[in-house]
Amino acid sequence: MTGKNWKVFNPSGARRVVVTKALPGDRWLDILARADARVEYGIETRILSVDEIAAAIGKRCDGAIGQLTESWREALFSALSAAGGAVYSNYAVGHDNVDLDAATQRGIPVGNTPGVLTEATAEMAVALTFAAARRIPEADAYLRSGKYEGWLPTLFLGEMLSRKTVGVIGAGRIGAEYAKMMVEGFKMDLVYFDTNPNPALENHIREFSTFLIAQGEAPVNVTCASDVEEVLQQADVVSLHPPLDETTRHLVDEKRLDLMKKNAVLVNTARGPVVDEAALVVHCKKNPDFRAGLDVFEEEPEMKAGLNTLQNVVVAPHIASATRWTREAMATLAASNVAAIFRGWPVSTDPSRIPEFLEHPAPRAAPSIVNAKELGLPTL
Ligand code: DGY
Repeated sequence: MTGKNWKVFNPSGARRVVVTKALPGDRWLDILARADARVEYGIETRILSVDEIAAAIGKRCDGAIGQLTESWREALFSALSAAGGAVYSNYAVGHDNVDLDAATQRGIPVGNTPGVLTEATAEMAVALTFAAARRIPEADAYLRSGKYEGWLPTLFLGEMLSRKTVGVIGAGRIGAEYAKMMVEGFKMDLVYFDTNPNPALENHIREFSTFLIAQGEAPVNVTCASDVEEVLQQADVVSLHPPLDETTRHLVDEKRLDLMKKNAVLVNTARGPVVDEAALVVHCKKNPDFRAGLDVFEEEPEMKAGLNTLQNVVVAPHIASATRWTREAMATLAASNVAAIFRGWPVSTDPSRIPEFLEHPAPRAAPSIVNAKELGLPTL
Protein backbone atom coordinates (compact mmCIF):
# COMPACT_ATOMS: atom_id res chain seq x y z
CA MET A 1 0.00 0.00 0.00
CA THR A 2 1.39 3.39 -1.01
CA GLY A 3 1.38 6.42 1.33
CA LYS A 4 -0.11 9.90 1.54
CA ASN A 5 1.49 11.08 -1.68
CA TRP A 6 -0.51 8.56 -3.65
CA LYS A 7 -4.15 8.44 -4.68
CA VAL A 8 -6.22 5.36 -5.35
CA PHE A 9 -8.79 4.85 -8.11
CA ASN A 10 -11.08 1.81 -8.19
CA PRO A 11 -9.89 0.50 -4.81
CA SER A 12 -11.64 -2.84 -5.23
CA GLY A 13 -9.80 -3.75 -8.47
CA ALA A 14 -8.23 -7.21 -8.32
CA ARG A 15 -5.02 -6.16 -10.09
CA ARG A 16 -2.72 -3.52 -8.66
CA VAL A 17 -1.23 -0.93 -11.03
CA VAL A 18 1.26 1.70 -9.87
CA VAL A 19 1.42 4.90 -11.95
CA THR A 20 4.22 7.17 -10.76
CA LYS A 21 2.48 10.45 -11.68
CA ALA A 22 -1.12 11.55 -12.09
CA LEU A 23 -1.89 11.61 -15.83
CA PRO A 24 -4.27 14.07 -17.51
CA GLY A 25 -7.88 13.21 -18.34
CA ASP A 26 -9.79 10.26 -16.92
CA ARG A 27 -10.07 7.82 -19.79
CA TRP A 28 -6.84 6.11 -18.75
CA LEU A 29 -8.35 5.41 -15.34
CA ASP A 30 -11.47 3.90 -16.92
CA ILE A 31 -9.39 1.71 -19.23
CA LEU A 32 -7.44 0.32 -16.28
CA ALA A 33 -10.53 -0.06 -14.09
CA ARG A 34 -12.27 -2.00 -16.88
CA ALA A 35 -9.29 -4.36 -16.81
CA ASP A 36 -10.09 -4.87 -13.11
CA ALA A 37 -7.18 -2.77 -11.87
CA ARG A 38 -6.88 -0.84 -8.66
CA VAL A 39 -4.83 2.18 -9.75
CA GLU A 40 -2.42 3.86 -7.33
CA TYR A 41 -0.94 7.06 -8.77
CA GLY A 42 1.61 9.48 -7.38
CA ILE A 43 0.59 13.09 -6.79
CA GLU A 44 4.01 14.60 -6.02
CA THR A 45 5.51 16.82 -8.70
CA ARG A 46 9.18 16.05 -7.96
CA ILE A 47 10.98 13.20 -9.70
CA LEU A 48 10.77 10.01 -7.62
CA SER A 49 13.96 8.06 -6.93
CA VAL A 50 14.38 4.42 -7.90
CA ASP A 51 14.06 3.47 -4.21
CA GLU A 52 10.81 5.38 -3.85
CA ILE A 53 9.36 3.73 -6.94
CA ALA A 54 10.53 0.30 -5.78
CA ALA A 55 8.84 0.98 -2.43
CA ALA A 56 5.63 1.93 -4.24
CA ILE A 57 5.80 -1.28 -6.29
CA GLY A 58 6.04 -3.13 -2.98
CA LYS A 59 5.39 -6.85 -2.59
CA ARG A 60 2.55 -7.12 -5.10
CA CYS A 61 2.14 -5.12 -8.26
CA ASP A 62 0.68 -6.38 -11.52
CA GLY A 63 1.72 -3.51 -13.76
CA ALA A 64 3.26 -0.04 -13.79
CA ILE A 65 3.26 3.16 -15.79
CA GLY A 66 6.34 5.35 -15.38
CA GLN A 67 7.82 8.61 -16.66
CA LEU A 68 10.73 9.47 -18.96
CA THR A 69 12.46 11.13 -15.98
CA GLU A 70 12.71 7.80 -14.14
CA SER A 71 15.40 5.18 -14.52
CA TRP A 72 13.55 1.98 -15.38
CA ARG A 73 16.48 -0.43 -15.39
CA GLU A 74 17.64 -3.57 -13.52
CA ALA A 75 16.57 -2.38 -10.06
CA LEU A 76 13.01 -1.45 -10.99
CA PHE A 77 12.38 -4.36 -13.33
CA SER A 78 13.63 -6.81 -10.72
CA ALA A 79 11.34 -5.14 -8.12
CA LEU A 80 8.41 -5.28 -10.57
CA SER A 81 9.13 -8.88 -11.50
CA ALA A 82 9.45 -9.95 -7.84
CA ALA A 83 6.09 -8.29 -7.17
CA GLY A 84 4.48 -10.36 -9.95
CA GLY A 85 4.42 -7.50 -12.48
CA ALA A 86 3.28 -8.51 -15.96
CA VAL A 87 3.75 -5.24 -17.85
CA TYR A 88 5.33 -1.78 -17.79
CA SER A 89 4.43 1.18 -20.00
CA ASN A 90 6.49 4.32 -20.38
CA TYR A 91 4.36 7.47 -20.51
CA ALA A 92 6.42 8.69 -23.50
CA VAL A 93 7.26 7.73 -27.03
CA GLY A 94 11.01 7.80 -26.24
CA HIS A 95 12.32 4.98 -24.08
CA ASP A 96 15.98 5.83 -23.51
CA ASN A 97 15.18 5.77 -19.76
CA VAL A 98 14.24 2.08 -20.04
CA ASP A 99 16.62 -0.88 -20.10
CA LEU A 100 14.71 -3.04 -22.57
CA ASP A 101 17.01 -6.03 -22.01
CA ALA A 102 16.40 -5.93 -18.27
CA ALA A 103 12.63 -5.99 -18.90
CA THR A 104 12.81 -8.62 -21.64
CA GLN A 105 14.97 -10.95 -19.54
CA ARG A 106 12.20 -10.92 -16.93
CA GLY A 107 9.47 -11.42 -19.53
CA ILE A 108 8.04 -7.95 -18.96
CA PRO A 109 6.50 -6.24 -22.01
CA VAL A 110 7.39 -2.52 -22.28
CA GLY A 111 4.85 -0.17 -23.82
CA ASN A 112 5.28 3.35 -25.17
CA THR A 113 3.04 6.03 -26.69
CA PRO A 114 3.98 6.73 -30.33
CA GLY A 115 2.03 8.62 -32.96
CA VAL A 116 0.23 11.11 -30.73
CA LEU A 117 3.13 13.47 -30.02
CA THR A 118 4.17 14.10 -33.62
CA GLU A 119 2.37 17.35 -34.41
CA ALA A 120 2.58 18.77 -30.87
CA THR A 121 6.34 18.26 -30.69
CA ALA A 122 6.91 19.55 -34.22
CA GLU A 123 4.81 22.65 -33.43
CA MET A 124 6.93 23.28 -30.34
CA ALA A 125 10.11 22.96 -32.39
CA VAL A 126 8.66 25.57 -34.79
CA ALA A 127 7.74 27.80 -31.83
CA LEU A 128 11.27 27.55 -30.39
CA THR A 129 12.76 28.20 -33.83
CA PHE A 130 10.98 31.52 -34.16
CA ALA A 131 11.21 32.44 -30.48
CA ALA A 132 14.98 32.14 -30.86
CA ALA A 133 15.29 33.63 -34.37
CA ARG A 134 13.08 36.63 -33.53
CA ARG A 135 14.28 36.94 -29.91
CA ILE A 136 10.78 36.89 -28.46
CA PRO A 137 11.54 36.02 -24.79
CA GLU A 138 14.28 38.66 -24.71
CA ALA A 139 11.95 41.29 -26.18
CA ASP A 140 9.12 40.25 -23.84
CA ALA A 141 11.35 40.65 -20.77
CA TYR A 142 12.58 44.03 -22.04
CA LEU A 143 9.07 45.37 -22.48
CA ARG A 144 7.83 44.09 -19.13
CA SER A 145 10.80 45.59 -17.31
CA GLY A 146 9.77 49.08 -18.50
CA LYS A 147 12.79 49.62 -20.74
CA TYR A 148 10.82 50.24 -23.94
CA GLU A 149 10.97 53.93 -24.87
CA GLY A 150 9.51 53.64 -28.36
CA TRP A 151 10.00 52.05 -31.80
CA LEU A 152 13.60 51.99 -32.95
CA PRO A 153 15.09 50.93 -36.30
CA THR A 154 17.62 48.72 -34.53
CA LEU A 155 15.54 47.25 -31.70
CA PHE A 156 15.86 43.44 -31.40
CA LEU A 157 17.06 42.65 -34.88
CA GLY A 158 16.74 38.93 -35.49
CA GLU A 159 16.88 36.48 -38.36
CA MET A 160 14.33 36.03 -41.14
CA LEU A 161 13.98 32.38 -42.11
CA SER A 162 11.67 32.47 -45.14
CA ARG A 163 13.35 31.03 -48.25
CA LYS A 164 16.44 30.03 -46.29
CA THR A 165 17.55 26.47 -45.48
CA VAL A 166 16.14 24.33 -42.70
CA GLY A 167 18.20 21.40 -41.45
CA VAL A 168 16.74 18.35 -39.76
CA ILE A 169 18.75 15.64 -38.06
CA GLY A 170 16.57 12.57 -37.51
CA ALA A 171 13.75 12.46 -40.05
CA GLY A 172 11.37 10.06 -38.35
CA ARG A 173 7.79 11.02 -37.56
CA ILE A 174 8.52 14.22 -35.60
CA GLY A 175 11.51 15.40 -37.64
CA ALA A 176 9.60 14.90 -40.90
CA GLU A 177 6.58 16.78 -39.56
CA TYR A 178 8.76 19.71 -38.47
CA ALA A 179 10.47 19.70 -41.87
CA LYS A 180 7.10 19.89 -43.66
CA MET A 181 5.88 22.70 -41.40
CA MET A 182 9.01 24.75 -42.10
CA VAL A 183 9.14 24.03 -45.84
CA GLU A 184 5.42 24.53 -46.49
CA GLY A 185 5.05 27.45 -44.08
CA PHE A 186 8.18 29.37 -44.91
CA LYS A 187 9.22 27.97 -48.29
CA MET A 188 12.60 26.90 -47.00
CA ASP A 189 14.92 24.43 -48.68
CA LEU A 190 15.42 21.26 -46.65
CA VAL A 191 18.68 19.48 -45.94
CA TYR A 192 18.31 16.47 -43.67
CA PHE A 193 20.29 13.57 -42.32
CA ASP A 194 19.02 10.27 -41.06
CA THR A 195 20.69 6.87 -41.00
CA ASN A 196 17.43 5.70 -42.65
CA PRO A 197 16.63 8.19 -45.43
CA ASN A 198 12.99 9.21 -45.70
CA PRO A 199 11.89 8.98 -49.39
CA ALA A 200 8.26 9.75 -48.47
CA LEU A 201 9.37 13.08 -47.00
CA GLU A 202 11.49 13.83 -50.06
CA ASN A 203 8.55 13.09 -52.40
CA HIS A 204 6.30 15.28 -50.30
CA ILE A 205 8.69 18.23 -50.60
CA ARG A 206 9.10 17.67 -54.35
CA GLU A 207 5.32 17.67 -54.79
CA PHE A 208 5.15 20.90 -52.83
CA SER A 209 7.84 22.36 -55.04
CA THR A 210 5.82 21.42 -58.14
CA PHE A 211 2.84 23.19 -56.60
CA LEU A 212 4.93 26.33 -55.97
CA ILE A 213 6.15 26.35 -59.56
CA ALA A 214 2.54 26.03 -60.78
CA GLN A 215 1.76 29.13 -58.70
CA GLY A 216 4.53 31.02 -60.45
CA GLU A 217 6.79 30.86 -57.39
CA ALA A 218 10.37 29.70 -57.01
CA PRO A 219 10.78 26.00 -56.17
CA VAL A 220 12.11 24.55 -52.91
CA ASN A 221 14.83 21.90 -52.79
CA VAL A 222 15.32 18.84 -50.66
CA THR A 223 18.71 17.22 -50.01
CA CYS A 224 19.38 14.01 -48.15
CA ALA A 225 22.81 14.80 -46.68
CA SER A 226 25.50 12.19 -46.47
CA ASP A 227 26.40 13.17 -42.92
CA VAL A 228 25.49 15.37 -39.96
CA GLU A 229 28.26 17.81 -40.87
CA GLU A 230 26.66 18.65 -44.22
CA VAL A 231 23.42 19.64 -42.47
CA LEU A 232 25.19 21.74 -39.87
CA GLN A 233 27.25 23.59 -42.46
CA GLN A 234 24.40 24.36 -44.86
CA ALA A 235 21.39 25.11 -42.69
CA ASP A 236 20.25 28.40 -41.21
CA VAL A 237 18.25 26.53 -38.61
CA VAL A 238 18.90 22.97 -37.45
CA SER A 239 16.34 21.00 -35.51
CA LEU A 240 17.36 17.78 -33.73
CA HIS A 241 15.03 14.76 -33.75
CA PRO A 242 17.09 11.58 -33.32
CA PRO A 243 16.35 9.06 -30.58
CA LEU A 244 18.91 9.13 -27.76
CA ASP A 245 21.30 6.18 -27.78
CA GLU A 246 25.05 5.67 -27.65
CA THR A 247 25.38 6.81 -31.29
CA THR A 248 23.59 10.13 -30.72
CA ARG A 249 24.92 11.13 -27.27
CA HIS A 250 26.73 14.48 -27.75
CA LEU A 251 25.96 14.27 -31.47
CA VAL A 252 26.27 18.06 -31.49
CA ASP A 253 29.55 18.80 -29.73
CA GLU A 254 32.06 21.65 -29.78
CA LYS A 255 33.54 20.61 -33.12
CA ARG A 256 30.19 20.31 -34.83
CA LEU A 257 28.86 23.57 -33.31
CA ASP A 258 31.86 25.28 -34.89
CA LEU A 259 30.71 24.06 -38.32
CA MET A 260 27.41 25.90 -38.03
CA LYS A 261 26.78 29.36 -39.44
CA LYS A 262 27.57 32.10 -36.93
CA ASN A 263 23.95 33.28 -36.99
CA ALA A 264 22.30 29.85 -37.14
CA VAL A 265 19.54 28.62 -34.84
CA LEU A 266 19.83 25.22 -33.12
CA VAL A 267 16.64 23.64 -31.77
CA ASN A 268 16.47 20.59 -29.53
CA THR A 269 13.16 19.00 -28.63
CA ALA A 270 14.58 15.44 -28.72
CA ARG A 271 16.69 14.57 -25.68
CA GLY A 272 19.13 16.81 -23.79
CA PRO A 273 22.23 14.58 -24.07
CA VAL A 274 22.08 14.77 -27.89
CA VAL A 275 23.81 18.16 -27.40
CA ASP A 276 26.96 18.73 -25.35
CA GLU A 277 25.30 21.42 -23.26
CA ALA A 278 28.51 22.78 -21.70
CA ALA A 279 29.97 23.20 -25.22
CA LEU A 280 26.77 24.94 -26.30
CA VAL A 281 27.10 27.45 -23.44
CA VAL A 282 30.66 28.29 -24.57
CA HIS A 283 29.57 28.50 -28.22
CA CYS A 284 26.65 30.84 -27.46
CA LYS A 285 28.89 33.09 -25.36
CA LYS A 286 31.48 33.29 -28.16
CA ASN A 287 28.86 33.81 -30.89
CA PRO A 288 26.19 36.27 -29.76
CA ASP A 289 24.33 36.00 -33.09
CA PHE A 290 24.01 32.24 -32.74
CA ARG A 291 20.73 31.18 -31.10
CA ALA A 292 19.39 28.07 -29.49
CA GLY A 293 15.90 26.95 -28.56
CA LEU A 294 15.94 24.12 -26.04
CA ASP A 295 13.09 22.09 -24.60
CA VAL A 296 15.34 19.36 -23.19
CA PHE A 297 18.52 19.37 -21.10
CA GLU A 298 21.36 17.01 -20.35
CA GLU A 299 20.58 16.62 -16.68
CA GLU A 300 16.94 17.58 -16.30
CA PRO A 301 15.66 19.38 -14.35
CA GLU A 302 19.04 21.16 -14.09
CA MET A 303 20.62 23.35 -16.75
CA LYS A 304 24.38 23.46 -17.27
CA ALA A 305 26.11 26.42 -15.60
CA GLY A 306 25.79 29.64 -17.58
CA LEU A 307 22.88 28.55 -19.75
CA ASN A 308 20.20 30.40 -17.81
CA THR A 309 21.85 33.81 -18.21
CA LEU A 310 22.42 33.61 -21.96
CA GLN A 311 20.18 36.01 -23.87
CA ASN A 312 20.61 34.06 -27.10
CA VAL A 313 19.14 30.86 -25.66
CA VAL A 314 15.40 30.26 -25.30
CA VAL A 315 14.47 27.53 -22.85
CA ALA A 316 11.32 25.57 -22.02
CA PRO A 317 10.82 22.86 -19.37
CA HIS A 318 10.38 19.78 -21.62
CA ILE A 319 6.86 20.73 -22.71
CA ALA A 320 6.99 19.90 -26.42
CA SER A 321 4.23 17.31 -26.11
CA ALA A 322 2.28 19.36 -23.56
CA THR A 323 -0.99 19.94 -25.33
CA ARG A 324 -4.07 18.63 -23.55
CA TRP A 325 -5.04 16.41 -26.47
CA THR A 326 -1.57 14.86 -26.75
CA ARG A 327 -1.05 14.24 -23.07
CA GLU A 328 -4.52 12.68 -22.71
CA ALA A 329 -3.87 10.54 -25.77
CA MET A 330 -0.51 9.43 -24.30
CA ALA A 331 -2.35 8.44 -21.10
CA THR A 332 -4.89 6.46 -23.13
CA LEU A 333 -2.14 4.59 -24.99
CA ALA A 334 -0.08 3.86 -21.85
CA ALA A 335 -3.16 2.52 -20.01
CA SER A 336 -4.25 0.55 -23.08
CA ASN A 337 -0.82 -1.14 -23.26
CA VAL A 338 -1.12 -2.27 -19.64
CA ALA A 339 -4.80 -3.29 -19.87
CA ALA A 340 -4.25 -5.27 -23.09
CA ILE A 341 -1.45 -7.35 -21.58
CA PHE A 342 -3.63 -8.08 -18.53
CA ARG A 343 -6.38 -9.26 -20.86
CA GLY A 344 -4.06 -11.39 -22.99
CA TRP A 345 -4.76 -9.37 -26.12
CA PRO A 346 -2.29 -9.25 -29.05
CA VAL A 347 0.03 -6.36 -29.84
CA SER A 348 -0.67 -3.99 -32.72
CA THR A 349 2.40 -3.55 -34.92
CA ASP A 350 0.91 -1.08 -37.38
CA PRO A 351 1.73 2.52 -36.35
CA SER A 352 -0.97 3.84 -38.72
CA ARG A 353 -3.60 2.19 -36.46
CA ILE A 354 -2.67 4.27 -33.39
CA PRO A 355 -5.59 6.75 -33.90
CA GLU A 356 -8.04 3.81 -33.60
CA PHE A 357 -6.94 3.37 -29.98
CA LEU A 358 -8.28 6.84 -29.19
CA GLU A 359 -11.74 5.92 -30.53
CA HIS A 360 -14.66 4.05 -28.92
CA PRO A 361 -14.56 1.14 -29.19
CA ALA A 362 -10.79 0.76 -29.43
CA PRO A 363 -9.12 -2.32 -30.95
CA ARG A 364 -8.73 -5.28 -28.59
CA ALA A 365 -4.95 -5.03 -28.66
CA ALA A 366 -1.98 -3.28 -27.08
CA PRO A 367 -1.20 -0.14 -29.13
CA SER A 368 2.60 -0.31 -28.86
CA ILE A 369 4.88 -2.79 -27.06
CA VAL A 370 8.49 -2.13 -28.01
CA ASN A 371 9.89 -5.55 -27.02
CA ALA A 372 6.92 -7.54 -28.40
CA LYS A 373 9.10 -9.35 -30.94
CA GLU A 374 11.80 -10.27 -28.43
CA LEU A 375 9.12 -11.67 -26.11
CA GLY A 376 7.34 -13.49 -28.94
CA LEU A 377 4.02 -11.83 -28.09
CA PRO A 378 1.12 -12.49 -30.48
CA THR A 379 0.56 -9.62 -32.89
CA LEU A 380 -2.56 -8.20 -34.50
C1 DGY B 1 8.47 11.62 -25.24
O1 DGY B 1 7.35 11.08 -25.17
O2 DGY B 1 9.48 10.98 -25.49
C2 DGY B 1 8.52 13.10 -25.06
O3 DGY B 1 9.79 13.58 -24.81
C3 DGY B 1 7.56 13.56 -24.00
O4 DGY B 1 7.33 14.90 -24.26
